[in-house]
Amino acid sequence: MSVPKPLLAALQGQSIRPTPLWLMRQAGRYLPEYRQLRERAGGFLDLCLTPDLAAEATLQPIRRFGFDGAILFSDILIIAKALGRALVFRDGDGPSLPPLAAVDGLAMQPDASVLAPVYAAVRKVKASLSTVTTLLGFAGGPWTVAAYVIDGSGRTQFTKARALASENPAALEAIITRLSDATAAHLIAQLDAGADAVQIFDSWAGLLPPEQFRRFVIAPTQRIVAAIHARHPRAPIIGFPRNAGALYEAYFVETGVNALCIDQNVPLTQAHALQARGPVQGNLDPTVLVAGGAALDRAVADILATLGQRPFVFNLGHGILPETPLAHVERLVRLVRGGP
Ligand code: CP3
Repeated sequence: MSVPKPLLAALQGQSIRPTPLWLMRQAGRYLPEYRQLRERAGGFLDLCLTPDLAAEATLQPIRRFGFDGAILFSDILIIAKALGRALVFRDGDGPSLPPLAAVDGLAMQPDASVLAPVYAAVRKVKASLSTVTTLLGFAGGPWTVAAYVIDGSGRTQFTKARALASENPAALEAIITRLSDATAAHLIAQLDAGADAVQIFDSWAGLLPPEQFRRFVIAPTQRIVAAIHARHPRAPIIGFPRNAGALYEAYFVETGVNALCIDQNVPLTQAHALQARGPVQGNLDPTVLVAGGAALDRAVADILATLGQRPFVFNLGHGILPETPLAHVERLVRLVRGGP
């Protein structure tokens, strides 16, 4: 019997062959059709918040490569905008916001009019997606979103947010709690609109020492997971506490996420051990995909040989890089699907 949605089945704990595949940031500047759409939209935020355009960006990599998962085209900082932070994206410079000092700089509730186009985009994608492709929603982990919101950009290595974690942890916790409530509601609304599963991107989790990691990453994620599962008990949640190293296992066990996404710094022996706890997703180095050739062939073979027997989803260890050649992505898809 063929599996209707191979990626969804893998996230629910089945061992699926060939291994399901999608790539973080699979809609993006490495695609000529994305660059064209981006030009047409004007700004990056216009692209995110215009349902027709966001749906089109979501579908572009599916049409070209036939990935098993379509991830909603949006951004983790849209939730900050909905909570009243003035968010801008400058070309080639990433996100920028006025730095936040305390929780009273965040609205109590997200502005529904900011988020409505996101859910409209989910419904549009769902309506035009084939029945075998899994639709993924997402949000940022509250620590990572807090880090951008407090520092105002990623340029400062989040020194203000990290200092707040030591100097006034209660103030950081208040910010993270408000972001967590908004994030849980945002993910539930994406599932209500038709997403099959969701991923929580905690890209900067690895900056925190263990005790702070437990308080500002594991504890709030556990609450988000519980809130989602109360409404959508069967919807898989993928957690990605990037660069968590030795703390990945505690995160996997204690948060209750259904699947764990790992970065490329996780040794395959550790990744294999983590599969005892549930499905794992990852972890090809994005620079190896840029390099291609024998290095790519070898890295893909190693990952599949070590992780491919148990519940597994092939992905990168972080987002695809803009300079990635299309031919290397095509080769990757053939390798994972078991072609020559
Ligand atoms: O995966 C996908 O294809 C879905 C879309 C997606 C985007 N951002 C689109 C995007 C997702 C899942 C994200 C998540 C995101 N956004 C994260 C977590 C993952 C990670 O990369 O660590 C973070 C930290 C952000 C915040 C953000 N957005 C940054 C730091 C930047 C600038 C970096 C860059 O590549 O320019 C963005 C912009 C952004 N988000 C782009 C895309 C396609 C590039 C914008 C453009 O078109 O110019």
